[in-house]
Amino acid sequence: MFNNIYKDKKVLITGNTGFKGSWLTVWLLKLGAKVYGISKGIPTNPSMFEVLNLKDKIEYHVLNINNLEQVKNTIDKIRPDFIFHLAAQAIVGKSYENPIETFNTNVLGTAHILDSMRVLNFKSTLVMITSDKCYENVEWKWGYRETDHLGGKDPYSASKGAAEMIIHSFFHSFFKNKESNVRLVSVRAGNVIGGGDWAEKRLVPDCIKSWSVNEIIEIRNPYSTRPWQHVLEPLSGYLRVGQVLYENIEISGESYNFGPPANQIHNVMEVIENLQKYWSDSNENQYKFAKKNSFHEAGLLKLNCDKALADLKWLPVLDFHKTTRFTATWYKEFYTNKSDMYNFTINQIDEYFNFAKEKDLIWTV
Ligand SMILES: NC(=O)c1ccc[n+]([C@@H]2O[C@H](COP(=O)([O-])OP(=O)(O)OC[C@H]3O[C@@H](n4cnc5c(N)ncnc54)[C@H](O)[C@@H]3O)[C@@H](O)[C@H]2O)c1
Repeated sequence: MFNNIYKDKKVLITGNTGFKGSWLTVWLLKLGAKVYGISKGIPTNPSMFEVLNLKDKIEYHVLNINNLEQVKNTIDKIRPDFIFHLAAQAIVGKSYENPIETFNTNVLGTAHILDSMRVLNFKSTLVMITSDKCYENVEWKWGYRETDHLGGKDPYSASKGAAEMIIHSFFHSFFKNKESNVRLVSVRAGNVIGGGDWAEKRLVPDCIKSWSVNEIIEIRNPYSTRPWQHVLEPLSGYLRVGQVLYENIEISGESYNFGPPANQIHNVMEVIENLQKYWSDSNENQYKFAKKNSFHEAGLLKLNCDKALADLKWLPVLDFHKTTRFTATWYKEFYTNKSDMYNFTINQIDEYFNFAKEKDLIWTV
């Protein structure tokens, strides 16, 4: 997998205790990497990080990325071959409650990682995770391309657009030279679902939290469409782009979108109905509609992923039904069977790998 590039490498994941960070940790451990983590704490209870006991499998540093000195010293101690920067205030709703923390963490925090690498200047490959929300959403029908305008009305989206500009600026100011020790890309994915997410104000965790105590979920925007994808889809993109960037500095400074196929855009209701099928045997709806949406949420936002296909031969793997099956069965296993969730997670990665292999995707080699 990934040409074995991660085997025995030191890989630092910022935001390792979060939803994507936990899945990425498991996948990298499976690939034989030595995994290091930086996070300011464990964001939820329960959390995938704790359920899988990842603390004992990696070297975990508790620190706030808003503290430049600590970030620099910690990176200097680890001297990672790869950095996957995921640490962020990642919830749109919370960015309205605390815009300053969102800007500090998502914008300055990103600058702190990059500035540490500017000063330390050792050989490393950086995959900087932002979001599809970095694009100025003009509510059109077409997928956004990497060259489209950055923007964002709400603080979270604006922070991700700003993070992209910071990444661009550091690249052009300090890392552009083909001999540069530091190579980087930025990556943009959309709404991700999968087992192990318990974050607040996100659709799937909200459903699961209600259903696990036999409550009905109240949904805000049932007909809002999002480019839903399973968490393993962007992660396969992040790992693939990390591999290609490590092998070839030519793509340094580029940005890549990782989204589902254009015909796989579904609305909130469809997600809930699919999850419910796997969660419960009852035919009764486990949801009701909420009265009013309290904050601005953008409408359709879809990504054009032609560049990832052209440069990286990356394609999504799971259709919508598999995406919701993977998601619901993970939670069902956790809440009902209480089995070894580390092994269950590995098994889902294996199943995902087998589907990718059937599609002959190059990263499976
Ligand atoms: N989950 C999604 O649907 C989605 C979609 C698009 C982009 N993203 C982006 O992917 C990345 C990971 O998202 P996630 O869903 O795993 O988020 P998450 O909220 O589950 O995890 C966030 C992680 O960042 C850490 N963190 C937050 N503030 C920090 C700080 N000041 N210093 C150090 N660590 C801090 C948390 O401790 C946690 O480990 C984020 O950059 C997010 O914006 C996520």
